[in-house]
Amino acid sequence: MSRSQPGPRADLPLAAGELVVLTDERGRKRLTCLVEGDALHMNAGNVQCKDIIGLPPGRRLKTSKGKEVSILRPTLEEYILLMPRAAQIITPKDAAYIVQWADIFPGAVVVEAGIGSGGLTLALLRAVGQAGTIIGFEQRLEFANRAQKNVRGWRDRLEERLDVRIADVHAALPSLSGIDRIVLDLADPWLALPGAARALKAGGILLAYLPSVRQVDKLTGAILDHPSFTPPEVVEAWVRPWVVDHERLRPAHKILAFTGFLARTRRRGEDAAPA
Ligand SMILES: C[S@@+](CC[C@H](N)C(=O)[O-])C[C@H]1O[C@@H](n2cnc3c(N)ncnc32)[C@H](O)[C@@H]1O
Repeated sequence: MSRSQPGPRADLPLAAGELVVLTDERGRKRLTCLVEGDALHMNAGNVQCKDIIGLPPGRRLKTSKGKEVSILRPTLEEYILLMPRAAQIITPKDAAYIVQWADIFPGAVVVEAGIGSGGLTLALLRAVGQAGTIIGFEQRLEFANRAQKNVRGWRDRLEERLDVRIADVHAALPSLSGIDRIVLDLADPWLALPGAARALKAGGILLAYLPSVRQVDKLTGAILDHPSFTPPEVVEAWVRPWVVDHERLRPAHKILAFTGFLARTRRRGEDAAPA
């Protein structure tokens, strides 16, 4: 997938080679790269790239079926939802809460595992800013390749802050130090605790995304038994979309009822020796 325009140029006319998102009257979206001479096929009808190139973002066009589509540069949320996937991504509602709850700050050094499709990685990369680093562990080479392609496909050169390592994070963590945050989306995060205790700075945060309550039970039990970590906290992030048009203003019938739980803990500092 080609790179879209960087942020500061966001109001310039749409150019060949950049990413756009087309939205039809029913809210269906299509992410695509503008290639001169290509036709874009949607349920709402076809649109020619040459008719889009040179337009200011936000314009509406009629398709071959006479339906209206609006054309914009994608937001990061749209890009993450529409980009190609290797593994299941963390949804934007959870990614947004993770950034806040793990306190991902500009300049932070963050370990993330596994990076899967790079969905959460993109949100973390933006949050750490130019001075930050994501050390992204992934066991499967093909997933790591997909994630890196997805990161490169987004604007802003976020890949420059990403250090991908093809390795088992549980085995790698004990050799790391000076880590501000650890964010885990994998089946057995409790195995990371011994290494996280060595790698994290005092006060550092470990956060795990967990699709099953059995995992929550196992991780929180292991945290409670580990002397280096503060008592665990668990939350579930809920977002309820609404239908908005001239007639209706109400919650949507279909919602994403469940994705996963979030659990976090902080690395304790060493206790002062008794006087
Ligand atoms: C659900 S996916 C992660 C999706 C990712 N958070 C996203 O938003 O695109 C879980 C990933 O963890 C990787 N994984 C599982 N155990 C691992 C380990 N011990 N070390 C590194 N990666 C691991 C898997 O290969 C898989 O790609």
